[in-house]
Amino acid sequence: MSILVTGGSGFIGSHTCVELLNSGYDTIILDNLCNSKSESVKRIKEITGKDVKFYECDIRDREGLDKIFAENSIEAVIHFAGLKCVPESISDPLSYYDNNIGGTVTLCQAMAAAGCKKIVFSSSATVYGSENPSPLKEDMPEGKTTNPYGTTKLYIERVLKDLYASDNEWSVCLLRYFNPIGAHKSGRIGEDPNGIPNNLVPYITQVAIGKLDHLNVNGNDYPTPDGTGVRDYIHVVDLALGHIKAVEKVLGETGCNTYNLGTGTGYSVLDVVNAFEKANNIKIKYEIAPRRPGDIATCYSDPSKAKEELGWVATRDLTEMCEDSWRWQSNNPRGYEE
Ligand code: NAD
Ligand code: WQD
Repeated sequence: MSILVTGGSGFIGSHTCVELLNSGYDTIILDNLCNSKSESVKRIKEITGKDVKFYECDIRDREGLDKIFAENSIEAVIHFAGLKCVPESISDPLSYYDNNIGGTVTLCQAMAAAGCKKIVFSSSATVYGSENPSPLKEDMPEGKTTNPYGTTKLYIERVLKDLYASDNEWSVCLLRYFNPIGAHKSGRIGEDPNGIPNNLVPYITQVAIGKLDHLNVNGNDYPTPDGTGVRDYIHVVDLALGHIKAVEKVLGETGCNTYNLGTGTGYSVLDVVNAFEKANNIKIKYEIAPRRPGDIATCYSDPSKAKEELGWVATRDLTEMCEDSWRWQSNNPRGYEE
């Protein structure tokens, strides 16, 4: 029996595959490599000393999916595959609706046809929108999403909830991630963004390595302790371990459950800059810049439901996140390109 991991060569997927293999699960990766490199699959094997089957396939390719389900005995799917760049989703929404929503529908159709009805899905704190106050709890109303990327996550949650309502044999876990950063301790796998990073920590590590001159701190007039945006940063290995708990949940029982995966603590942009400087003894040059459109002041989780129902808590602190992000970046200045 195997676990199929869509998007398994990407940032969060690769870390989750390592933890799946370490936990003894046979693991199969499906990825179309649109935002990752097959080198990450080699490194998953290197870190774990275990073999992983890899299919270069698109989740919108029904025939390709049917072949994978026919060739393997797949018990559950962890579904990471999707596009995640917020500004790109605004300029090219159709690609996001097609890839993320269309792809998920096709994946679920292939799963149903193969009799595999257990799925763990990568949702996002973005579904809480801009109006709910932090700490965010799973029973709060879904918010107004601020971009098409966020809307795809909201709609996919609805698709999966409707699917469960139509057929209670399904077992669905919707995981709402907060801000994943950090990397595996080995420094061999990590986040490898294309071009100039959109997200804070990859931007900081590229300033640290000299690829970028300085960080633009987007807004210092938010209603937060130091005026900069507050987020719930979570170590990607803690996040990966949350998926092991979620897989155990979907393997063990049917149902449709939603969980926040965060630490419950919010840090500002300047907190992260200071923590990075202190952890790694590197100065980060920064300038105050205008707010980024669509950004909210504060976003952090109440992670107590995942603790109570999955037995999961994040244990790695911001210092460790900063050390591990830097080890990955400094050991791999060009990401997976040697
Ligand atoms: P990533 O881009 O590193 O990984 C996604 C992977 O999916 C990539 O390897 C990409 O090549 C693959 N992919 C994309 N479209 C595909 C398709 N049609 N068919 C097959 N493979 C496809 O991103 P990540 O940071 O690892 O995120 C994983 C998931 O978690 C995504 O769904 C993302 O939206 C979600 N998420 C990410 C964050 C974050 O901040 N990183 C936060 C919340 C949710
Ligand atoms: C964090 C903070 C910025 C860059 C995004 C998506 C969200 C989710 C996670 C997938 C904010 C500030 C950033 C920079 C800065 N992704 N910042 N200068 O926006 O919380 O979430 O990634 O689901 O949907 O929107 O993360 O890392 O981009 O920003 O000052 O160069 O850092 O304003 O306060 P965000 P981020």
